[in-house]
Amino acid sequence: MERSGNDQDRTAVVVPSAQVRQSSRVKDYDALRREAERDPVKFWEDRAKELAWYAPWDKALDDSNPPFYKWFVGGKTNIILNALDRHQATATRNKLAFIWEGESGEIRTLSFFALNREVCQFANVLKSMGVHKGDRVTIYLPRILELPIAMLACAKIGAVHSVVYGGFSVEALGERIQDSESKVLITADGGFMRGKTVPLKSIADQALERAGTVEHVIVVRRTREPVSMEPGRDYFYDELMGLPIAKAVGATRCATEVMDAEDPLFLLYTSGTTGKPKAIVHTHGGYQVGIATTMNYAFDVRPEDRYWCAADPGWITGHSYIVYAPLILGMTSLIYEGAPTYPYPDRWWKIVEKQGISILYAAPTAIRGLMRFGEAWPNRHDLTSLRLLGTVGEPINPEAWRWYHRVIGGERCPIIDTWWQTETGSFMICPVPSFDLKPGSATKPFPGIGAQVLREDGTPAGPGEEGKLVITAPWPSMLRGIYKNPERYVEQYWSTFPGKYLTGDAARVDEDGYFWIIGRMDDVLKVSGYRLGTAEVESALVSHPAVSEAAVIGIPHEVKGNAIRAFVILRAGRAPSPELNEELIKHVATEMGPIARPEKIEFVTALPKTRSGKIMRRLLKARAMGLPEGDVSTLED
Ligand code: WTA
Repeated sequence: MERSGNDQDRTAVVVPSAQVRQSSRVKDYDALRREAERDPVKFWEDRAKELAWYAPWDKALDDSNPPFYKWFVGGKTNIILNALDRHQATATRNKLAFIWEGESGEIRTLSFFALNREVCQFANVLKSMGVHKGDRVTIYLPRILELPIAMLACAKIGAVHSVVYGGFSVEALGERIQDSESKVLITADGGFMRGKTVPLKSIADQALERAGTVEHVIVVRRTREPVSMEPGRDYFYDELMGLPIAKAVGATRCATEVMDAEDPLFLLYTSGTTGKPKAIVHTHGGYQVGIATTMNYAFDVRPEDRYWCAADPGWITGHSYIVYAPLILGMTSLIYEGAPTYPYPDRWWKIVEKQGISILYAAPTAIRGLMRFGEAWPNRHDLTSLRLLGTVGEPINPEAWRWYHRVIGGERCPIIDTWWQTETGSFMICPVPSFDLKPGSATKPFPGIGAQVLREDGTPAGPGEEGKLVITAPWPSMLRGIYKNPERYVEQYWSTFPGKYLTGDAARVDEDGYFWIIGRMDDVLKVSGYRLGTAEVESALVSHPAVSEAAVIGIPHEVKGNAIRAFVILRAGRAPSPELNEELIKHVATEMGPIARPEKIEFVTALPKTRSGKIMRRLLKARAMGLPEGDVSTLED
């Protein structure tokens, strides 16, 4: 049901059906938000009490040293206590935790009992390799069940995992291993994507030549293609799991390490404004409270759900809402290994039908991509098992929203648009099913979360006025910093408006208090939902011997959101050619990964710069898009 105004896209309100409203856990979102606003710390503390702890906290929030906030101080826990251990004593133990579907159609399932067994066994393997509490472990795997198993095994013994997305390549992996000083690398012989294989072990070997801290490499066999194994360093996962250490009586048990609430759970590298990616730190205590609460409320989780988050476990969406929150909530979730269009553009819809998926959580770029193939593909399948749809990663354009709502959701399913970041750990702005929706708006801040749009001078922007999106108070699942770089943490997130967390996004709030995210204000790109920094792509380009300087911008792209356009100045003696163009594109793909591949490279002889030598990407973008150049007074010449 829709009420439309003058500007249909902006003002149309989609009202939930009486049935959805009635069955929603949260009936009055605004009222709950107002209640939480009166005492947000108490709101979160009450939610934390719904989880298991080894010992309660002394103080819910320690804000004595901002912005180094601490949550549930003195509390003892381990996210595994909630994700696996406590289910072993209930009926959930016999429920499926994961249903995995390979690209070629094979199925593997793990109950909570079986998952716990695998995790314990693998935790014992890690321990036998000398991995201790606090040690870092890099995980570089395709979308297979060993990925969550490896993450959970690290968490169980108090090791800190650093998952590197399997689509990244040599340079990206190498610098992440190096920066995290990982002791162990867990990878695979390869992975399947679009019917082809990706040689992960060989990429890992090249990365290891550049990063020297890894003592052991564990290789999961997936493609069964031959790989080179360094004796004494490299071991096959299945062989380790078959060893007495993992198979002996009792080896399928492993005590969960008792952690302080503030002990780190994982590092996750993400892109910012410099060429060097930064590792965001999340903890055991506050993180579990944030993710479990947001998922439970926003997706209105029910025991009978079959949930599918189509993201990769290697990104924050996968960490929070494929691995940890669904397990804490005892949900059954699906992991699909491959591409949405393999072998045909109805693969996703086929999976929804076959597995009876009730909640589908996906990125707008994927929805736009599938929308292009037309309605006939989804219409061939019975999608009536779906009751709720989610989106994440970038603003969803109203056209894609409407398609998702009508064609996939049969106008029955609320669309839960969730705005959040690697740094925030969990949803920050999102509706609940009973709430009135506006296509393209993530609606309002989650209860217990304070968000505002500010002008340059720090005063609140008026209704409809564009400004900088900030979070006004600490929240439990917030980042605890940037690994090894407290200065950058303060400078990047907390110095623009003291006391407020700067998100890096531009937004506006309409007359009804709905938030509209416009996009990044910094040099961060969202390419097919993946977060990349312009500086990272530039540094990959200049690492090629023919390149002297490079500038990278994002150009709006119908499906991908952003496409990468690069401007390159060649070294003296090198001339532009179609071959060099190809070579540079390939070079970026090998260094960073195929997702960073520029869509177009332009050879130029100069780049617009400020007098202080900063490349004016804004100007390049305006020129590339044929837009007015705006203020060019700082331009060098
Ligand atoms: C963007 C992904 C609009 C935003 C979870 C943010 C969104 C960045 C939305 C973080 C949304 C994420 N609507 N924009 N629902 N969700 N974004 O760290 O620009 O990969 O700052 O986390 O994605 O990307 P990240």
